[in-house]
Amino acid sequence: MAPLRVAGSLKVPGDKSISHRSLILASLAEGESRVTGILDSEDVRSTAGVLRAMGAQIPELSQDMRVRGGGLRALRPPREALDCGNSGTTTRLVAGVVAGHPFSARFEGDASLSRRPMKRIAEPLTYMGARFDFERGDGLPMTVHGVELRSIDWDTKSASAQVKSAILLAGLVSQVEVRVTESGKSRDHTEIMLRAMGVDVENDGNQVCLRPSRKLNAIDIAVPSDPSSAAFFVAAATLVQEGELRLEDVCLNPTRIGFLNAIRKMGGNIVVESHISAAGEEIGSLTVRPAGLENLRITENEVPSLIDELPLLACVAAAAGVDLEISGAAELRVKESDRISAVVQNLRAVGVGADEMPDGLRVRGLATAAAKRFSGTVDPRGDHRIAMAFGILSAVSGNKIAILNPEIVAVSYPRFWQDLRRVVS
Ligand code: S3P
Repeated sequence: MAPLRVAGSLKVPGDKSISHRSLILASLAEGESRVTGILDSEDVRSTAGVLRAMGAQIPELSQDMRVRGGGLRALRPPREALDCGNSGTTTRLVAGVVAGHPFSARFEGDASLSRRPMKRIAEPLTYMGARFDFERGDGLPMTVHGVELRSIDWDTKSASAQVKSAILLAGLVSQVEVRVTESGKSRDHTEIMLRAMGVDVENDGNQVCLRPSRKLNAIDIAVPSDPSSAAFFVAAATLVQEGELRLEDVCLNPTRIGFLNAIRKMGGNIVVESHISAAGEEIGSLTVRPAGLENLRITENEVPSLIDELPLLACVAAAAGVDLEISGAAELRVKESDRISAVVQNLRAVGVGADEMPDGLRVRGLATAAAKRFSGTVDPRGDHRIAMAFGILSAVSGNKIAILNPEIVAVSYPRFWQDLRRVVS
């Protein structure tokens, strides 16, 4: 087989977390915000849709769009249930906003989202005074009854930006002080954007405190490229035999670069040039070249900074023929799929030795490397990141791996397959 190579440069689509937040916060601001580079994907469309259903003035998503905010607590009761599609971020962040409005809203989602736990936001928001009705366990459908909320000092005992942000947004719209303490630092895009909009929010280690503000100032938000999407191409450029790939304008917020750190620890060759943007996010370009990799172990404290990239890391270990052990990552079981089971079952389906653990997994890449099979069919279980992770394993292994329902990448990266074909040959 001819050696595989990467070439050129690529700007992957806008960051999903920042895109959701830009629509939510611009809707609550006073005046017109300009949002450039937003991710136009199914998840972000879900956030735009539920905000529009409550009267927010959000135009069609485009690369240079303006959102006229109505101010804090200007949303109106939705006439119908809020359809959150596949998006946990839409559900949990918007539930925080609704909790501080004087009306009720019913949240619905697809089969995957309906299985995901909502108690983690219902508990603190109930403590603040809101009411939650569930029809089945603590998943969707869920109805949130909003009220004038009270202040809270909450220990989440986990590292979840969605839970932290739900509480911060509830405090923001109700104009009460909130403090959240986490077991590890989760992504802080909500805090960074709130500060840029004039709110007094302070991060101190794993703790964040928001003080009451009368208003949010409209701003210009330039959404950087998503490091979770760039990660697929960092992996591809590391695993091929020749060439180099440049990835432009990637969000390099320290809470999001665990995957880059892991690849570097394994021996990857990544050159970073970065700077802090006007809005307070670190962004930069990456130049990635092929490299031989070594075994790696990931433990609990590293997990929050690469939670969404762990399925990909497992595929990287398989492709590189090295061993990987991940522990302290039980959260993977409640993502868009049970990602521990989905990764292990699919690795086995294509001939890679892998074991499931309650809170992680093991990839036996070294033993598998001798056989070098990698063929079979992958069932991503409706999970966009599983489809893309195995798409990389397929592209760099040169063997045929069939991936069922490849179109599900539209949740976070609609042009993933085209970009992959363009840069890897
Ligand atoms: C996200 C937070 C993370 C992450 C998800 C996006 C966010 O989830 O996995 O893809 O935008 O706040 P948790 O808050 O459940 O850890």
